[in-house]
Amino acid sequence: MNKYPDFLYVITLEQCDSTNNYIKANHENWQDKLPVLVTSTLQTAGRGREKRNWVSPKGKGLYSTFGFNLENSQNLNLLPLIAGISVIETLKKIVDIELGLKWPNDILYKNKKIAGILIENIITASKIFCITGIGINLNHTAADFPGELQEKAISLKMITGIETSTGQINQVLAVKLFHWLEKLETGANEEIIQTANGYSSFLKDKNISFHHPVDNKIISGIFKGINHDGGLILGNKQGSSNIYYSGEIV
Ligand code: BTN
Repeated sequence: MNKYPDFLYVITLEQCDSTNNYIKANHENWQDKLPVLVTSTLQTAGRGREKRNWVSPKGKGLYSTFGFNLENSQNLNLLPLIAGISVIETLKKIVDIELGLKWPNDILYKNKKIAGILIENIITASKIFCITGIGINLNHTAADFPGELQEKAISLKMITGIETSTGQINQVLAVKLFHWLEKLETGANEEIIQTANGYSSFLKDKNISFHHPVDNKIISGIFKGINHDGGLILGNKQGSSNIYYSGEIV
């Protein structure tokens, strides 16, 4: 039997534009109730990273966002990693499958995307409010994905043939996320990086293309892993490497 952590304020919606937007619009009213989880059966304007849409048909996916204050800003780069680790551990608890973490926080099954994470932080002088949106493909058939994604996306049902309800997954996810958040707050960085590198090992020493948003360039290199503060280590043929803190592997 799973249950939500006692301290979590849970809001369940039939529909909204985006669970990230819902938290952004309302969190000021919930300061005494945080942390909060907003989950919705459908999103009319779900958002992905790099301004992409996250198509969110009713009951097909899990569309959830956690909102919480983070005490220590130094570890903010590790937040995407612990969110990704939490999703992997949640799915692995439901069904024993091989999943990989594509830096910083895409979840892959056999090179196809099964879950994505959109983190938006509101940083003020007094606090850091983290909005961690998680989309997991649960009950989609290939036809439920937009054409251009049909080759690149996969759902739990396409892997196992079984439909999954979001309730159970949200509960496990909440437990996992707050477990890793406590590690983040207590400075267990080494354990976080080691775990993230373990789930990323399928990419180790592989040639990758990387989109760097700062100069909007695609850079080719060799994936060397994740460094001690959450950066991507991109090697080159000369044997040296650069560290990147934003962008994504394409
Ligand atoms: C990505 O991989 O591009 C990130 C996808 C994040 C999707 C989730 S679904 C719940 C939350 N609400 C949103 O609008 N986006 C995130």
